[in-house]
Amino acid sequence: MAVGLFDTETPLRPLRAALAERAAAVLASGRYVLGPEVEGFEADFAAHLGARHVVGVANGTDAITIALRAMGVGPGDEVVVPSFTFYASAEAIPPTGALPVFCDVDPDTFCLTAETVRAALTPRTKAVVAVDLFGNVAPVEEIAALGVPVLEDAAQAAGSRAGGLRAGTLGAAATFSFFPSKNLGGFGDGGAIVTDDDAIAEMARMLRFHGSRDKVDYELVGYNSRLDELQAALLRVLLPHLDGWSDGRRAAARHYAEAGLGDYVALPRPTEGADPAWHLYVIRHPYVDRLGPALERVGIGQKAYYRTPVHRQPAMAPFADGAELPATDELAATHLAIPMSPVLDRLQAIEVVSAIRGARA
Ligand SMILES: Cc1ncc(COP(=O)(O)O)c(C=O)c1O
Repeated sequence: MAVGLFDTETPLRPLRAALAERAAAVLASGRYVLGPEVEGFEADFAAHLGARHVVGVANGTDAITIALRAMGVGPGDEVVVPSFTFYASAEAIPPTGALPVFCDVDPDTFCLTAETVRAALTPRTKAVVAVDLFGNVAPVEEIAALGVPVLEDAAQAAGSRAGGLRAGTLGAAATFSFFPSKNLGGFGDGGAIVTDDDAIAEMARMLRFHGSRDKVDYELVGYNSRLDELQAALLRVLLPHLDGWSDGRRAAARHYAEAGLGDYVALPRPTEGADPAWHLYVIRHPYVDRLGPALERVGIGQKAYYRTPVHRQPAMAPFADGAELPATDELAATHLAIPMSPVLDRLQAIEVVSAIRGARA
């Protein structure tokens, strides 16, 4: 039995008619940018998260740049960011005028820690981008206790929880991506900034609209970065299902554990108090370069996401001078994503585990 790396199709199947109906209504409405659907989605998502403000933007990368600027980050500042993440977590920093400073992660959780952040702090540090990688939840409270504002990059963690709160509500602000493969994935690009801070929200609203409140006075050099009406309307159809899908992702992780996956490879560890809605299920093994192709040959989806960590990417060379990140380098070499979706069932998990056992034999 083949098991794909994702299954984005099955969860959406029962919603196709409702999605088509909402899409048709938006097309007929004549309002496509910053209209009632964006306002409605912002209110729905804020209520879901238990946050005061959601500001819809064009994608999760712009969300980080805009949120950092709204938090006061600018030229001459430094922003600490893990290197073991999607490139955009760091790429979004230089457009603010600040410099990214790379920190290491805990190899068992994939997340940065208060210790790894402390090692990267300087008097110029203005913020930390704490990435909730693969759906695990970064220890935001411990990092904030170092005295530096935290932007939670929750692009991969919609539906995750930690300590009774939802991922995306833990720092001074947070960002989401609604890229189609995400836990809450739309039908094109989309993103959001989340915050309880009125001033950050107001600034983010201006920055997404050319630095203007009213299309008359332009107070800042901003961006054209809006969530569009179509995406917002479709995301409103999906949002009520996010918790159910997240439970499905948690169940899939349990199926793997019960099928004995931990006997063969290192399993991801939730951070203290976290209840991750795993976006990707990432295992570690010293010989993943052999394991990956062996799984592919028997129809099991697999992918190494970040073989070259961000601080070793050519464009980041000016910011990575001398960075020594041993856990990041080890993770980059040993991680492998295996199938994960809201509908991955017990039999599929058993199939994947037996393929892994066979591949190692
Ligand atoms: C951790 C992380 N941060 C930021 C982003 C950027 O989001 P987007 O692709 O919507 O720009 C992504 C996803 O693509 C991501 O996985």
